Amino acid sequence: MIYLDNGATSFPKPPEVIKAINDALAAPASPGRSGHAAALNASRTIHRARKSVARLFGLPDNSRLAFTSNVTWSLNLALNGLGLKTGDHVLSSALEHNSTARPLARFQKEIQIDWEVVPPGPAGLMLAEDFQVRLRPETRLVVLNHASNVTGALAPAKAIKEAIGTIPLLLDTAQTAGSLPMDDYGQWADLIAFTGHKGLLGPTGTGGLWIREGLDFRPLAVGGSGSRSESLVHPDFLPDALEPGTANTHGLAGLAAGVEFLLNVGLDKVREHEMGLTQYFLENIVNIPGLSIIGPGPGVASRVATVSVVLEGWSSSDLAASLEKGYGIMIRSGLHCAPLTHQFVGTFPGGASRFSIGYFNTLEDVQTAARALAELAAHTGHRG
Ligand SMILES: Cc1ncc(COP(=O)(O)O)c(C=O)c1O
Repeated sequence: MIYLDNGATSFPKPPEVIKAINDALAAPASPGRSGHAAALNASRTIHRARKSVARLFGLPDNSRLAFTSNVTWSLNLALNGLGLKTGDHVLSSALEHNSTARPLARFQKEIQIDWEVVPPGPAGLMLAEDFQVRLRPETRLVVLNHASNVTGALAPAKAIKEAIGTIPLLLDTAQTAGSLPMDDYGQWADLIAFTGHKGLLGPTGTGGLWIREGLDFRPLAVGGSGSRSESLVHPDFLPDALEPGTANTHGLAGLAAGVEFLLNVGLDKVREHEMGLTQYFLENIVNIPGLSIIGPGPGVASRVATVSVVLEGWSSSDLAASLEKGYGIMIRSGLHCAPLTHQFVGTFPGGASRFSIGYFNTLEDVQTAARALAELAAHTGHRG
Protein backbone atom coordinates (compact mmCIF):
# COMPACT_ATOMS: atom_id res chain seq x y z
CA MET A 1 0.00 0.00 0.00
CA ILE A 2 1.13 3.55 -0.73
CA TYR A 3 -0.50 6.02 1.64
CA LEU A 4 -0.85 9.50 0.15
CA ASP A 5 -3.73 10.76 2.28
CA ASN A 6 -1.77 12.46 5.04
CA GLY A 7 -3.92 15.58 4.66
CA ALA A 8 -6.82 13.55 6.07
CA THR A 9 -4.77 11.89 8.80
CA SER A 10 -1.12 10.96 8.95
CA PHE A 11 0.09 7.39 8.59
CA PRO A 12 2.14 5.65 9.85
CA LYS A 13 2.53 6.97 13.37
CA PRO A 14 6.07 6.78 14.80
CA PRO A 15 6.62 3.73 17.07
CA GLU A 16 7.21 6.19 19.94
CA VAL A 17 3.61 7.38 19.59
CA ILE A 18 2.19 3.87 19.68
CA LYS A 19 4.31 3.00 22.71
CA ALA A 20 3.32 6.18 24.57
CA ILE A 21 -0.39 5.46 24.03
CA ASN A 22 0.03 1.82 25.09
CA ASP A 23 1.95 2.84 28.21
CA ALA A 24 -0.71 5.41 29.10
CA LEU A 25 -3.47 2.85 28.60
CA ALA A 26 -1.73 0.50 31.00
CA ALA A 27 -2.08 3.00 33.88
CA PRO A 28 -5.03 4.75 35.56
CA ALA A 29 -5.67 8.16 34.01
CA SER A 30 -7.43 10.90 35.94
CA PRO A 31 -5.25 13.97 35.54
CA GLY A 32 -5.96 16.91 37.83
CA ARG A 33 -8.48 14.93 39.87
CA SER A 34 -7.28 12.44 42.53
CA GLY A 35 -4.06 12.99 44.49
CA HIS A 36 -2.52 9.52 44.21
CA ALA A 37 0.63 8.70 42.32
CA ALA A 38 -1.12 7.45 39.17
CA ALA A 39 -3.23 10.62 38.90
CA LEU A 40 -0.14 12.77 39.35
CA ASN A 41 1.56 10.77 36.64
CA ALA A 42 -1.39 11.38 34.30
CA SER A 43 -1.10 15.12 35.06
CA ARG A 44 2.57 14.91 34.14
CA THR A 45 1.61 13.38 30.78
CA ILE A 46 -0.72 16.30 30.04
CA HIS A 47 1.95 18.75 31.14
CA ARG A 48 4.45 17.08 28.82
CA ALA A 49 2.03 17.44 25.90
CA ARG A 50 1.47 21.11 26.76
CA LYS A 51 5.21 21.73 26.97
CA SER A 52 6.01 20.06 23.66
CA VAL A 53 3.22 21.87 21.76
CA ALA A 54 4.35 25.15 23.36
CA ARG A 55 7.88 24.49 22.06
CA LEU A 56 6.57 23.68 18.59
CA PHE A 57 4.76 27.04 18.29
CA GLY A 58 7.13 29.04 20.50
CA LEU A 59 4.30 29.91 22.91
CA PRO A 60 5.26 32.39 25.61
CA ASP A 61 2.77 30.86 28.08
CA ASN A 62 1.73 27.21 27.82
CA SER A 63 -1.06 27.65 30.39
CA ARG A 64 -2.99 29.53 27.70
CA LEU A 65 -3.04 26.38 25.60
CA ALA A 66 -6.25 24.34 25.96
CA PHE A 67 -6.53 20.81 24.64
CA THR A 68 -9.60 19.82 22.60
CA SER A 69 -10.62 16.77 20.59
CA ASN A 70 -9.63 18.15 17.15
CA VAL A 71 -9.14 21.42 15.30
CA THR A 72 -12.86 21.63 14.48
CA TRP A 73 -13.58 21.95 18.23
CA SER A 74 -10.70 24.37 18.66
CA LEU A 75 -12.04 26.61 15.89
CA ASN A 76 -15.60 26.45 17.24
CA LEU A 77 -14.27 27.22 20.70
CA ALA A 78 -12.50 30.27 19.32
CA LEU A 79 -15.35 31.52 17.13
CA ASN A 80 -17.95 31.09 19.88
CA GLY A 81 -15.68 32.25 22.68
CA LEU A 82 -14.86 35.63 21.18
CA GLY A 83 -18.49 36.76 21.59
CA LEU A 84 -19.20 37.92 18.03
CA LYS A 85 -22.23 40.21 17.82
CA THR A 86 -24.73 41.38 15.20
CA GLY A 87 -23.02 43.71 12.74
CA ASP A 88 -19.49 42.53 13.53
CA HIS A 89 -17.41 42.28 10.37
CA VAL A 90 -15.37 39.08 10.01
CA LEU A 91 -12.91 38.47 7.18
CA SER A 92 -11.89 34.98 6.12
CA SER A 93 -9.86 33.58 3.29
CA ALA A 94 -11.71 31.94 0.42
CA LEU A 95 -9.75 28.77 1.08
CA GLU A 96 -11.45 27.89 4.35
CA HIS A 97 -12.42 24.40 5.44
CA ASN A 98 -16.00 23.83 6.61
CA SER A 99 -14.60 23.83 10.16
CA THR A 100 -14.58 27.64 9.96
CA ALA A 101 -16.94 28.24 7.02
CA ARG A 102 -19.91 26.49 8.64
CA PRO A 103 -19.66 28.25 12.02
CA LEU A 104 -19.27 31.57 10.17
CA ALA A 105 -22.25 30.81 7.93
CA ARG A 106 -24.29 29.98 11.04
CA PHE A 107 -23.31 33.24 12.77
CA GLN A 108 -24.19 35.09 9.58
CA LYS A 109 -27.64 33.51 9.49
CA GLU A 110 -28.46 33.53 13.20
CA ILE A 111 -26.92 36.74 14.52
CA GLN A 112 -26.22 38.57 11.25
CA ILE A 113 -22.49 39.00 11.48
CA ASP A 114 -21.08 40.45 8.27
CA TRP A 115 -18.80 37.68 6.95
CA GLU A 116 -16.68 38.74 3.99
CA VAL A 117 -14.67 36.21 2.01
CA VAL A 118 -11.31 37.40 0.65
CA PRO A 119 -10.56 35.82 -2.74
CA PRO A 120 -7.11 34.47 -3.55
CA GLY A 121 -4.79 36.45 -5.82
CA PRO A 122 -4.11 35.46 -9.45
CA ALA A 123 -1.65 32.66 -8.54
CA GLY A 124 -4.15 31.11 -6.13
CA LEU A 125 -2.32 32.53 -3.11
CA MET A 126 -3.83 34.67 -0.36
CA LEU A 127 -2.29 38.17 -0.29
CA ALA A 128 -1.87 40.34 2.82
CA GLU A 129 -2.96 43.53 1.06
CA ASP A 130 -6.30 41.95 0.10
CA PHE A 131 -7.11 41.65 3.82
CA GLN A 132 -5.81 45.12 4.62
CA VAL A 133 -7.98 46.93 2.05
CA ARG A 134 -11.12 45.28 3.46
CA LEU A 135 -10.62 46.36 7.08
CA ARG A 136 -13.38 48.51 8.60
CA PRO A 137 -14.03 49.95 12.04
CA GLU A 138 -16.42 47.02 12.68
CA THR A 139 -13.88 44.33 11.73
CA ARG A 140 -13.61 42.05 14.80
CA LEU A 141 -11.71 39.05 13.52
CA VAL A 142 -9.73 37.60 10.62
CA VAL A 143 -9.97 33.84 10.06
CA LEU A 144 -7.22 32.20 8.05
CA ASN A 145 -6.66 28.66 6.86
CA HIS A 146 -2.88 28.57 7.05
CA ALA A 147 -2.64 26.15 4.10
CA SER A 148 -5.41 24.99 1.81
CA ASN A 149 -6.25 21.33 2.22
CA VAL A 150 -7.28 21.36 -1.47
CA THR A 151 -4.67 23.35 -3.37
CA GLY A 152 -1.80 23.19 -0.88
CA ALA A 153 -1.44 27.01 -1.09
CA LEU A 154 0.39 28.31 1.96
CA ALA A 155 -0.95 31.63 3.28
CA PRO A 156 1.51 34.36 4.33
CA ALA A 157 0.13 34.35 7.88
CA LYS A 158 2.70 36.67 9.44
CA ALA A 159 2.37 39.26 6.65
CA ILE A 160 -1.43 39.09 7.01
CA LYS A 161 -1.12 39.64 10.76
CA GLU A 162 1.13 42.65 10.14
CA ALA A 163 -1.40 44.00 7.63
CA ILE A 164 -4.39 43.72 10.00
CA GLY A 165 -2.64 45.21 13.04
CA THR A 166 -4.48 44.74 16.34
CA ILE A 167 -7.41 42.79 14.90
CA PRO A 168 -7.21 39.19 16.17
CA LEU A 169 -6.10 36.54 13.69
CA LEU A 170 -7.51 33.04 14.13
CA LEU A 171 -5.18 30.60 12.44
CA ASP A 172 -6.29 27.12 11.35
CA THR A 173 -3.03 25.15 11.27
CA ALA A 174 -4.62 21.79 10.40
CA GLN A 175 -2.44 21.44 7.29
CA THR A 176 0.72 23.11 8.54
CA ALA A 177 1.40 22.16 12.17
CA GLY A 178 4.18 19.58 12.11
CA SER A 179 5.09 20.24 8.47
CA LEU A 180 7.04 23.48 8.74
CA PRO A 181 8.97 25.42 11.36
CA MET A 182 6.49 27.54 13.37
CA ASP A 183 8.49 28.20 16.51
CA ASP A 184 8.03 31.98 16.35
CA TYR A 185 4.24 31.93 15.94
CA GLY A 186 3.64 32.47 19.65
CA GLN A 187 5.34 35.87 19.29
CA TRP A 188 2.83 37.35 16.85
CA ALA A 189 -0.24 35.11 16.47
CA ASP A 190 -3.45 35.70 18.43
CA LEU A 191 -5.27 32.36 18.27
CA ILE A 192 -3.62 29.15 17.04
CA ALA A 193 -5.92 26.16 16.43
CA PHE A 194 -4.36 22.77 15.69
CA THR A 195 -5.27 19.13 15.31
CA GLY A 196 -3.17 16.27 16.66
CA HIS A 197 -3.72 13.49 14.14
CA LYS A 198 -2.33 15.03 10.93
CA GLY A 199 1.16 16.55 10.70
CA LEU A 200 1.70 16.28 14.47
CA LEU A 201 1.68 12.48 14.07
CA GLY A 202 -0.55 11.94 17.12
CA PRO A 203 -3.79 10.00 17.43
CA THR A 204 -7.27 11.15 16.46
CA GLY A 205 -9.23 12.79 19.27
CA THR A 206 -6.49 15.33 20.06
CA GLY A 207 -6.12 19.00 19.22
CA GLY A 208 -5.95 22.37 20.89
CA LEU A 209 -6.27 26.13 20.90
CA TRP A 210 -3.77 28.70 22.12
CA ILE A 211 -5.04 32.18 22.96
CA ARG A 212 -2.70 35.08 23.47
CA GLU A 213 -2.80 37.05 26.69
CA GLY A 214 -5.31 39.90 26.68
CA LEU A 215 -8.03 38.35 24.49
CA ASP A 216 -11.40 38.15 26.26
CA PHE A 217 -12.81 34.72 26.17
CA ARG A 218 -15.96 32.76 27.11
CA PRO A 219 -15.94 28.95 27.42
CA LEU A 220 -18.24 27.00 25.15
CA ALA A 221 -18.86 24.31 27.78
CA VAL A 222 -18.45 24.23 31.55
CA GLY A 223 -18.34 21.39 34.08
CA GLY A 224 -15.84 19.45 36.14
CA SER A 225 -12.35 20.86 36.02
CA GLY A 226 -10.69 19.35 39.09
CA SER A 227 -10.12 22.93 40.31
CA ARG A 228 -12.36 25.28 42.40
CA SER A 229 -14.66 22.31 43.07
CA GLU A 230 -16.42 24.20 45.90
CA SER A 231 -17.97 26.62 43.41
CA LEU A 232 -20.83 26.30 40.93
CA VAL A 233 -19.03 28.83 38.78
CA HIS A 234 -16.58 27.30 36.31
CA PRO A 235 -13.01 28.59 36.76
CA ASP A 236 -12.14 31.53 34.57
CA PHE A 237 -8.40 30.88 34.38
CA LEU A 238 -6.74 29.01 31.53
CA PRO A 239 -6.38 26.24 30.68
CA ASP A 240 -9.06 24.98 33.14
CA ALA A 241 -11.61 27.47 31.75
CA LEU A 242 -11.51 25.74 28.37
CA GLU A 243 -10.92 22.15 29.44
CA PRO A 244 -14.11 20.91 31.12
CA GLY A 245 -14.25 17.16 31.73
CA THR A 246 -11.49 14.57 32.06
CA ALA A 247 -8.71 15.15 29.54
CA ASN A 248 -7.84 12.60 26.85
CA THR A 249 -4.73 11.40 28.70
CA HIS A 250 -4.15 8.43 26.39
CA GLY A 251 -4.40 10.54 23.27
CA LEU A 252 -2.31 13.36 24.70
CA ALA A 253 0.43 10.88 25.63
CA GLY A 254 0.55 10.02 21.93
CA LEU A 255 0.41 13.66 20.87
CA ALA A 256 3.32 14.54 23.16
CA ALA A 257 5.34 11.69 21.63
CA GLY A 258 4.43 12.78 18.07
CA VAL A 259 5.47 16.38 18.68
CA GLU A 260 8.66 15.31 20.45
CA PHE A 261 9.48 13.07 17.49
CA LEU A 262 9.11 16.04 15.13
CA LEU A 263 11.14 18.35 17.36
CA ASN A 264 13.93 15.77 17.46
CA VAL A 265 13.94 15.37 13.67
CA GLY A 266 13.73 19.15 13.22
CA LEU A 267 10.86 20.89 11.46
CA ASP A 268 13.19 22.26 8.79
CA LYS A 269 14.16 18.67 7.89
CA VAL A 270 10.50 17.60 7.79
CA ARG A 271 9.71 20.52 5.49
CA GLU A 272 12.72 19.78 3.26
CA HIS A 273 11.75 16.12 2.92
CA GLU A 274 8.07 16.74 2.21
CA MET A 275 8.72 19.54 -0.26
CA GLY A 276 11.47 17.58 -2.05
CA LEU A 277 8.97 14.83 -2.76
CA THR A 278 6.28 17.35 -3.71
CA GLN A 279 8.61 19.06 -6.17
CA TYR A 280 9.50 15.72 -7.74
CA PHE A 281 5.83 14.75 -7.98
CA LEU A 282 4.83 18.09 -9.56
CA GLU A 283 7.67 17.95 -12.09
CA ASN A 284 6.71 14.44 -13.11
CA ILE A 285 2.99 15.04 -13.58
CA VAL A 286 2.97 18.55 -15.03
CA ASN A 287 3.17 17.34 -18.65
CA ILE A 288 0.69 14.46 -18.42
CA PRO A 289 -1.87 15.02 -21.20
CA GLY A 290 -5.33 15.93 -19.89
CA LEU A 291 -4.12 16.45 -16.32
CA SER A 292 -4.67 19.79 -14.56
CA ILE A 293 -2.91 20.61 -11.32
CA ILE A 294 -5.12 22.71 -9.05
CA GLY A 295 -3.47 25.52 -7.15
CA PRO A 296 -0.30 27.57 -7.12
CA GLY A 297 2.22 27.13 -9.93
CA PRO A 298 5.08 24.61 -10.12
CA GLY A 299 7.28 26.09 -7.35
CA VAL A 300 6.98 24.71 -3.82
CA ALA A 301 7.92 27.75 -1.71
CA SER A 302 4.28 28.80 -1.25
CA ARG A 303 2.90 25.30 -0.86
CA VAL A 304 2.52 22.46 1.53
CA ALA A 305 2.83 18.84 0.39
CA THR A 306 -0.71 18.60 -0.99
CA VAL A 307 -1.36 18.33 -4.71
CA SER A 308 -4.85 18.09 -6.17
CA VAL A 309 -5.46 17.17 -9.78
CA VAL A 310 -8.28 16.78 -12.26
CA LEU A 311 -7.84 14.27 -15.08
CA GLU A 312 -9.93 14.87 -18.19
CA GLY A 313 -12.54 12.17 -18.71
CA TRP A 314 -12.37 10.97 -15.09
CA SER A 315 -14.41 11.76 -12.03
CA SER A 316 -12.25 12.38 -8.97
CA SER A 317 -13.68 9.29 -7.27
CA ASP A 318 -13.13 6.98 -10.28
CA LEU A 319 -9.54 8.15 -10.45
CA ALA A 320 -9.02 7.50 -6.72
CA ALA A 321 -10.63 4.06 -7.03
CA SER A 322 -8.41 3.11 -10.00
CA LEU A 323 -5.29 4.27 -8.20
CA GLU A 324 -6.18 2.06 -5.25
CA LYS A 325 -7.28 -0.93 -7.31
CA GLY A 326 -4.44 -0.87 -9.81
CA TYR A 327 -1.56 0.46 -7.72
CA GLY A 328 -2.53 0.27 -4.02
CA ILE A 329 -2.33 4.06 -3.81
CA MET A 330 -4.65 5.70 -1.27
CA ILE A 331 -5.68 9.30 -1.88
CA ARG A 332 -8.80 11.41 -1.24
CA SER A 333 -11.31 12.48 -3.88
CA GLY A 334 -14.33 14.82 -3.83
CA LEU A 335 -14.70 18.20 -2.15
CA HIS A 336 -12.46 17.71 0.92
CA CYS A 337 -14.95 19.52 3.23
CA ALA A 338 -13.97 22.73 1.42
CA PRO A 339 -16.70 23.65 -1.09
CA LEU A 340 -15.72 27.35 -1.04
CA THR A 341 -12.21 26.50 -2.19
CA HIS A 342 -13.47 24.29 -5.00
CA GLN A 343 -15.79 27.11 -6.11
CA PHE A 344 -12.89 29.55 -6.24
CA VAL A 345 -10.60 27.21 -8.15
CA GLY A 346 -13.34 26.07 -10.55
CA THR A 347 -13.62 22.41 -9.48
CA PHE A 348 -17.08 22.58 -7.86
CA PRO A 349 -19.10 20.34 -7.63
CA GLY A 350 -17.01 17.51 -9.13
CA GLY A 351 -14.06 18.06 -6.83
CA ALA A 352 -10.52 16.83 -7.39
CA SER A 353 -8.20 13.96 -6.57
CA ARG A 354 -5.86 14.92 -3.76
CA PHE A 355 -2.40 13.47 -3.10
CA SER A 356 -1.08 14.52 0.30
CA ILE A 357 2.50 13.59 1.10
CA GLY A 358 3.74 13.02 4.64
CA TYR A 359 7.04 12.70 6.46
CA PHE A 360 7.13 8.91 6.07
CA ASN A 361 6.57 8.88 2.31
CA THR A 362 9.50 7.95 0.08
CA LEU A 363 10.69 8.93 -3.38
CA GLU A 364 9.50 5.54 -4.57
CA ASP A 365 5.96 6.33 -3.36
CA VAL A 366 5.73 9.50 -5.41
CA GLN A 367 7.48 7.92 -8.40
CA THR A 368 4.82 5.19 -8.41
CA ALA A 369 2.04 7.76 -8.02
CA ALA A 370 3.36 9.87 -10.93
CA ARG A 371 3.74 6.76 -13.13
CA ALA A 372 0.24 5.58 -12.19
CA LEU A 373 -1.27 8.92 -13.16
CA ALA A 374 0.58 8.88 -16.50
CA GLU A 375 -0.61 5.33 -17.24
CA LEU A 376 -4.22 6.06 -16.31
CA ALA A 377 -4.15 9.23 -18.42
CA ALA A 378 -2.81 7.20 -21.36
CA HIS A 379 -5.73 4.80 -20.99
CA THR A 380 -8.42 7.46 -20.78
CA GLY A 381 -11.36 6.36 -22.84
CA HIS A 382 -10.47 2.66 -22.55
CA ARG A 383 -11.63 2.12 -18.98
CA GLY A 384 -13.83 -0.75 -17.82
C1 LIG B 1 -7.71 23.12 6.80
C2 LIG B 1 -8.46 22.18 7.68
N1 LIG B 1 -9.18 22.65 8.70
C3 LIG B 1 -9.85 21.84 9.52
C4 LIG B 1 -9.83 20.47 9.36
C5 LIG B 1 -10.59 19.60 10.32
O1 LIG B 1 -9.74 18.76 11.04
P1 LIG B 1 -10.29 17.84 12.21
O2 LIG B 1 -11.22 16.87 11.52
O3 LIG B 1 -9.11 17.19 12.78
O4 LIG B 1 -11.03 18.71 13.15
C6 LIG B 1 -9.07 19.93 8.31
C7 LIG B 1 -8.99 18.46 8.08
O5 LIG B 1 -9.77 17.80 7.56
C8 LIG B 1 -8.39 20.80 7.46
O6 LIG B 1 -7.67 20.32 6.44
